Amino acid sequence: MDLIEITGGNPLEGKIRISGSKNASLPMMIASLLTEEKVELSNIPNLSDVTTLIELMKSLGAAIEVDQTSDFGGKMTCVTKNILHTEASYDLVRKMRASFWVLAPLIARYGEAKVSLPGGCAIGIRPIDFYLSILKRMGVTLDLKDGYVYASVKSRLRSINFTLDFPSVGVTHFFLMMSSLAEGESVLKNAAKEPEVEALAEMLNKMGAKITGHGTNTITITGVPSLTGTKVNVPPDRIEAGTFAIAVSATGGEISLDSVNSDEIDVLLNVLEQSGVEISRSKKNLKISADRKRNSPVNISTAPYPGFPTDLQAQFMALMAIANGTSVIKETIFENRFMHVQELARFGANIKLKGDTAIIEGIERYNSAPVMATDLRASASLIIAALSAKGKSTIRRIYHLDRGFDKIEKKLRSCGAVIERKED
Ligand code: EPZ
Repeated sequence: MDLIEITGGNPLEGKIRISGSKNASLPMMIASLLTEEKVELSNIPNLSDVTTLIELMKSLGAAIEVDQTSDFGGKMTCVTKNILHTEASYDLVRKMRASFWVLAPLIARYGEAKVSLPGGCAIGIRPIDFYLSILKRMGVTLDLKDGYVYASVKSRLRSINFTLDFPSVGVTHFFLMMSSLAEGESVLKNAAKEPEVEALAEMLNKMGAKITGHGTNTITITGVPSLTGTKVNVPPDRIEAGTFAIAVSATGGEISLDSVNSDEIDVLLNVLEQSGVEISRSKKNLKISADRKRNSPVNISTAPYPGFPTDLQAQFMALMAIANGTSVIKETIFENRFMHVQELARFGANIKLKGDTAIIEGIERYNSAPVMATDLRASASLIIAALSAKGKSTIRRIYHLDRGFDKIEKKLRSCGAVIERKED
């Protein structure tokens, strides 16, 4: 297994092109299974989650070609003339929760599916009750046994009105895909408003779906009998952009981020400014400058979009742990998303946990340490800590990092970081 070795202490200086969004790519790739025609996606990031999903989609009958040779994003074409297999196995679904969403095209196009209960990052219980209610209400017969969901429907899916107890991103994606091929008009209330939901809805509309209200609380979908092929560009990864913005805030220096949608990380940029970082923004570019003074502490609470993203909580905690004072971070989305705390403590961080809240006493500076990544975003927080620590740190279990950060070492190295991947 590989590890990453970082010698910390250098400021980050340079320019980084932000890759296509992981969390937009995955539902967009799955949506290409909804049609028998050709779908072309560009700006696909080079990530292990994308590779896992390609493997799963091929196992269902998709013919997929991928070209990841360009530094300006990958290209993928997908043609699924017929669904050949309707089983998404445990081996593939356990690696990544988003794989569970293939249930939507399988059931909407083929009327049958056997999909393993999902896995993914161990950041909370992550139930699937909303998915199951939607399936049942749309007329699908369900059986849960041996760790699998067996689903079948004899006729076209029924349209429904559904109100989510919580604006779940995945369930909103799932609802959009299912109801695009259902009979009649469906309405989703308390829908997620994340940019990735908008990207999926816009792609589906280009495929002939009739979706309105995406980006607001209430989405209305009029089902159509079939969808067509399309050509779309995956939007930039707001979490990757936010991670680099936090990294330079911790190390000091100045980086310019290209190919970003700055508006989508407004909430983070405002918080960074409050903590003393200078930011100049245009729509597609950000320049972030931080001197080597300690940042001021800022309290945050994670929330659905446009609130502070849970996917940046771990990285922001790494910054607050070396701030000049005490800060409080509340995690409201996932109940177990604090596994980075014990690893940050190895670098010397002083963090106490009380339920869903972390109280962080800023220390002067991190020491180097050997640490272990526990989940995807946690691994980014350890990279940030190691970049700002004195001395050489090693980060193990970096397969978590490879799930969601495209060429991260290359990008950081181009900004002066001393970072190397080695065999353990
Ligand atoms: C998506 O996960 C993202 N994953 C996550 O990204 C992100 O952290 C999360 O949304 C929140 O923004 C992808 O897009 C692939 P949810 P998802 O359903 O859809 C509860 C990353 O690091 N819930 O919005 O699985 C659930 O337990 C990650 O890239 C139910 O109660 O998240 C959670 O508390 C990991 N019942 C809340 O909703 C259900 O049936 C929000 O989860 C479904 C969800």
